[in-house]
Amino acid sequence: MQSLPPRAGKAREETLDPEDWADAQAVAHRAVDDAIIAYLRDIRDRPVWQDMPGEVRRRFDTPLSRSPTPLSEVYGEIVETLMPYPMGNIHPRFWAWYMGSSNFTGALGDFLAAVQGSNLGGGNHAAALMDEQVIDWCKEMVGFPASASGTLVSGGSMANTIALIVARNVKAGIDVREHGVAAIEKPLRFYASDQIHNCHRKALEAMGLGNRALQRIPTDDDLRLDLDALRVAIARDRDAGFQPACVIGNAGTVNTGAIDDLQALADLAVQENLWFHIDGCIGALLAITPNNAHRVRGLDRADSVALDPHKWLHAPFEVGCVLVRDAAAHRESFAVAQEYLEKAPRGLASGEWLYEYSLQTSRGFRALKVWMALKEHGVEKFGRLIDQNIAQARYLDGLIGSETLLESVAQTTINIVCFRYRPPGLDEPALRRLNVEIMLRLQEDGVAAISDTTVHGKHCLRVAINNHRTRRSDLDLLVREIVRLGREIAIEMRVGKRRQKPASKRPDQAE
Ligand SMILES: Cc1ncc(COP(=O)(O)O)c(C=O)c1O
Repeated sequence: MQSLPPRAGKAREETLDPEDWADAQAVAHRAVDDAIIAYLRDIRDRPVWQDMPGEVRRRFDTPLSRSPTPLSEVYGEIVETLMPYPMGNIHPRFWAWYMGSSNFTGALGDFLAAVQGSNLGGGNHAAALMDEQVIDWCKEMVGFPASASGTLVSGGSMANTIALIVARNVKAGIDVREHGVAAIEKPLRFYASDQIHNCHRKALEAMGLGNRALQRIPTDDDLRLDLDALRVAIARDRDAGFQPACVIGNAGTVNTGAIDDLQALADLAVQENLWFHIDGCIGALLAITPNNAHRVRGLDRADSVALDPHKWLHAPFEVGCVLVRDAAAHRESFAVAQEYLEKAPRGLASGEWLYEYSLQTSRGFRALKVWMALKEHGVEKFGRLIDQNIAQARYLDGLIGSETLLESVAQTTINIVCFRYRPPGLDEPALRRLNVEIMLRLQEDGVAAISDTTVHGKHCLRVAINNHRTRRSDLDLLVREIVRLGREIAIEMRVGKRRQKPASKRPDQAE
């Protein structure tokens, strides 16, 4: 005899929805209040960064939870162990490496995107249209034609990678997708300045072309790609049986913010029949500024551009964007027909398959946080904020110039300032030790987060002002503290003794 299916009423079915919606609502309200008031409004009162005590670190070692914990307790743990110990990049005095400082509206956008839960692999729904609209807005911001294509990805590294894959496929002379890189007749060569971000190397390695396929061209005194050296390298490679395929221009290098001559590179790419890609992760959005757009003239002539809304649009991590002038070439690099992803004449599957422009299939709804902030503030304000950061970098340059113990190490083009504390009588290794110690104490004291680098062979401190919360008074404080710490550490180095515990009161806090 056939057994009867279980009666619907008896089956024990579970869900992840809250058992008590009122409780969930209370926790959610508390989280929003904490986020807006304690976290964002009062951010200046907190240290930029602080190390975690051992007891907090140990709480991240606890085993997998097997049984339930009330949401209010889960949130309580987050309040204690996570929120006080951020990277710090939303703080007004965070200038390390290179990242945006997020924004409340964008955070709300991420929350709503997660609640709505759409998958941006494609389909006929509003989130997909918004995703396409944000791509259209990015094209408009950098002067790309409406016919170009694009996709939102995790960040600049993926945006550059997608573009370089398209470049490789277009220039390979064979169907690389079908036959692989081993079938390419002449090894491909890509060119970029020796200041190029390491994601390009990773991309070429992952693409099967290898690190050596990326030829690093020397730079001039201002760290811009040397065009004569590039011409020589291309001619030499052609003679040696390589196939020059792509030149990558920097619209803002990560080390110092140098901008290559994009117009000249565009001309050269035409003459040499190269794909012209621009890494605009730092500087493509200069195009929207009233005062600095001229620095990226030629951006609109590229075959592809990578830009990073999580940098100068301050979108919460993550969101990068790649634009490709030839939409068909872009799609042909990634589209794969699948029986389980057939397009339908109507209904959910009647929209564009957005995964055909990317390596990803499922994709988060990154567009909403960008869309909401652009809508709320308007693109002109973002342009002014970029100009503001560049003016602040000039201001910092001025402070460095008027302080005898500080030495500028590189030309400041946009918002990255490289300099060092340099008392007389110290050799290079000692200067490095001294400046590293300054950087570490600034971080440990919670005063400022800056990073370091080496430019023209000199180790230096690096301040990258990609921050809509920074004020000039923050830079005054930074310089004061660097000089104070520099003196303190130089004395310690002379007498061979280290200071005791950091001061309990931060210098930015009034008595
Ligand atoms: C010039 C440049 N290109 C690429 C990247 C990589 O971007 P992401 O960290 O968003 O992957 C960066 C990051 O700072 C960058 O400055």
